[in-house]
Amino acid sequence: MIRNLLFCTLLSLTYCHQPAAQPSQPTASEHTLRSTAAFPVGAAISPSLLTSKPAYRQTLEREFSGITSENYLKMRFVHPEKDRYDWTGGNTIVDFANQTNKRMHGHALVWHQSVPDWVTQFKGDSLAWEGLIRDHIQTVVKQYKGKIAAWDVVNEAFLDDGTLRPSLWTEHLGPDFVARCFQYARQADPSVKLFYNEYGQEYSAKKLAAVLAMAADFRKRGIPIDGIGLQMHTHIDHPDAQIENAIRQTAATGLLVHISELDVRINQAKAANFVPTDALWQRQKAKFTAIVTAYRTLVPAAQQHGITTWNVSDGDSWIPSFCQCQDFPLPFDKDFKKKPAYEGLLSGLKP
Ligand code: XIL
Repeated sequence: MIRNLLFCTLLSLTYCHQPAAQPSQPTASEHTLRSTAAFPVGAAISPSLLTSKPAYRQTLEREFSGITSENYLKMRFVHPEKDRYDWTGGNTIVDFANQTNKRMHGHALVWHQSVPDWVTQFKGDSLAWEGLIRDHIQTVVKQYKGKIAAWDVVNEAFLDDGTLRPSLWTEHLGPDFVARCFQYARQADPSVKLFYNEYGQEYSAKKLAAVLAMAADFRKRGIPIDGIGLQMHTHIDHPDAQIENAIRQTAATGLLVHISELDVRINQAKAANFVPTDALWQRQKAKFTAIVTAYRTLVPAAQQHGITTWNVSDGDSWIPSFCQCQDFPLPFDKDFKKKPAYEGLLSGLKP
């Protein structure tokens, strides 16, 4: 015990946290997600977890080659007051990605959620609203020019029925606001990749068609867009064929394709006192393999922007608070141990 303590003090405290919280280290022959994949494998992350949980950071460093900002570059966080930007959380994430050589994906410049109060209360004519969104987009994009490789410019502009989602953006900027947001982002950084990000293309044919029609329209009009994100918040019962269809049709645009927010729920019925069984872990593993295999085989290599999971471990996932239920949708358990889902993800990545 005393020898162990002495050893810890002499070496570094970093290596001497609770053993249970330590992710297993790869042996020389062991493959990690990033060493196996031919494209970036990312995770959405939170700055507080990054700085407070050593196992979180170690898992990210070992396994992943891409980082997305889960919340801290959303408008409410980064632009809390009209004349004040707060870069603190964003910087922690972006600096970590840059220092560890991981591709940084920014999320999200324009969304109908996470809008700060000063914007919901904003009074002004259409010119003033246009100035508001242009300045926001251009200030944030310029701040991270050269440090963020790609941006979700607009997130979730469509409803499941394929119509434009009514929001304060459509109300004040009009139905063509998405195109102008992309133009503003392009003016601020000529080389950053610009993405449209959306959920549900795998279960709503109408929404998928709406996103594809928008991409085709942008191409015709010369509106800059580089890629499409399929969030892929899904579950073990969702048919593979529908997921494959969404990926195949999105790839047919010729644009980059990002599976941008992957998680796979196992408690779709939101059962109370839910206890996962081995059979459920195996089905989750199979779903991860199916999604990743579909992406790897259906998206041409030059269009593979990568696959990003929405956070790292079951303990850090947004799903339980979103569904108000217990669920375990990610490849690592709350102690950062690899689940069967991890093996499923890894085997799907293998060429
Ligand atoms: C979620 C975050 O994960 C939560 O922490 C936050 O409370 C709400 O937003 N689609 C998106 C993401 O594009 O931005 C959302 O992230 C999840 C759904």
